Amino acid sequence: MELQKTLGLFDAMAIGIGAIVGAGIFVVTGIAAGLAGPALLLSLLISAGISAFTAISFAQLAAFIPKEGGGYEFAHELISPFAGFITGWIWLLANVVIGVVVSIGFASYLQLFIPLPLQVIAPAACLVITFINYLGAKGSSLINNILVSVKLLILAFFVAFGIGAVKADNFSPFMPNGGTGVMQGAALIFFAFTGFGRITIISEEVKNPTKTIPLAIILALGISTAVYMLVSFTAVGLAGYTELAHSGSPLSDAALSESKNAASLISIGALVATLSVLLTTLLGLSRISFAMARNSDLPGLFGKLHHRRAVPYNAVLVFGIVMAVLAAFTDLARAAAISNFASLLYYSMVNYSALKMEKPVYPRIFPAIGLMTCIILLFFLSRDAWIMGGLVTLAGILYYHAGRSNRSA
Ligand code: ALA
Repeated sequence: MELQKTLGLFDAMAIGIGAIVGAGIFVVTGIAAGLAGPALLLSLLISAGISAFTAISFAQLAAFIPKEGGGYEFAHELISPFAGFITGWIWLLANVVIGVVVSIGFASYLQLFIPLPLQVIAPAACLVITFINYLGAKGSSLINNILVSVKLLILAFFVAFGIGAVKADNFSPFMPNGGTGVMQGAALIFFAFTGFGRITIISEEVKNPTKTIPLAIILALGISTAVYMLVSFTAVGLAGYTELAHSGSPLSDAALSESKNAASLISIGALVATLSVLLTTLLGLSRISFAMARNSDLPGLFGKLHHRRAVPYNAVLVFGIVMAVLAAFTDLARAAAISNFASLLYYSMVNYSALKMEKPVYPRIFPAIGLMTCIILLFFLSRDAWIMGGLVTLAGILYYHAGRSNRSA
């Protein structure tokens, strides 16, 4: 059975924006502002620039290998089967933890309406999303287009409503923690950009993929960057970076200084944004692990489809439950750093794959800069992120080699 090509440019771009705009802008901006100060704006530009180089690699790889699977397939074909496996493994790690961050982000906004502990709401959100995915949410592009429009409209409202009330005093001192603070902020706010390569995971479902996918990636990243810059400028200008740094719901708090109703509307936007990212993150996890299991890169249970609903139900259940458990015990800043560690490693592998293309579309300097900058940003993440990310990567390497000796025994 072949996958159907149903997605046009707008749908493909909306899938990108759908995966990008979530807890990053609505929550992680606060923590990053605590590190960079008002120079969060520079951190955002640095992260966006690094993402842009990596996006160019995605764009040309997707044109060359328009197959389901994203970086997992690229590294498999252009580097080696082992590189493919480890790229897929790291992607799974990044996305499980993205799910954790996003569910905690959702919880910190829902708390404004329902006074329950974060540690209860976040796992419950993971379980609800697991159930929806289990029933067979196929990521209908119409629903996604609507969700994306809602979240962009609410962010546009935030800017339109707040930008006139921005106070110049809130931008001084501009770099309270110097260049290091800016780079640490960039390493953390990178979270807000992850997801721009998501469309390559479902390349086979896109019409005219070699043209549509590269354009969709670049457009999704460009639009999100413009929105993030405006939103962050407005938030810092309204509330000041120290207030944002101490808030679990920074955009709503920034709006609250002007109007309670506006703050409630922003909170609704945050709930929609985080839930939609959570939904597609689990969907992506189940697809990639399903593809990996079909290639014997993961245990066969991940490759089983439900006999009626054609959903990789084991993959949905395992990842959904792991996310829920982690969401009950992890704090948001630590989880964001761990997921960025894994995302940056994954993007490094994607850039490296692009460097290995025999006939690249763009000069090799682009993936070379992408690779170098992803690696540099890794060094501004916390030690925790290195330890946890390193351990899970090591476990992947051991698993792969153990599996290989079993297969050849
Ligand atoms: N970039 C996604 C978000 O901000 C993961 O939620």
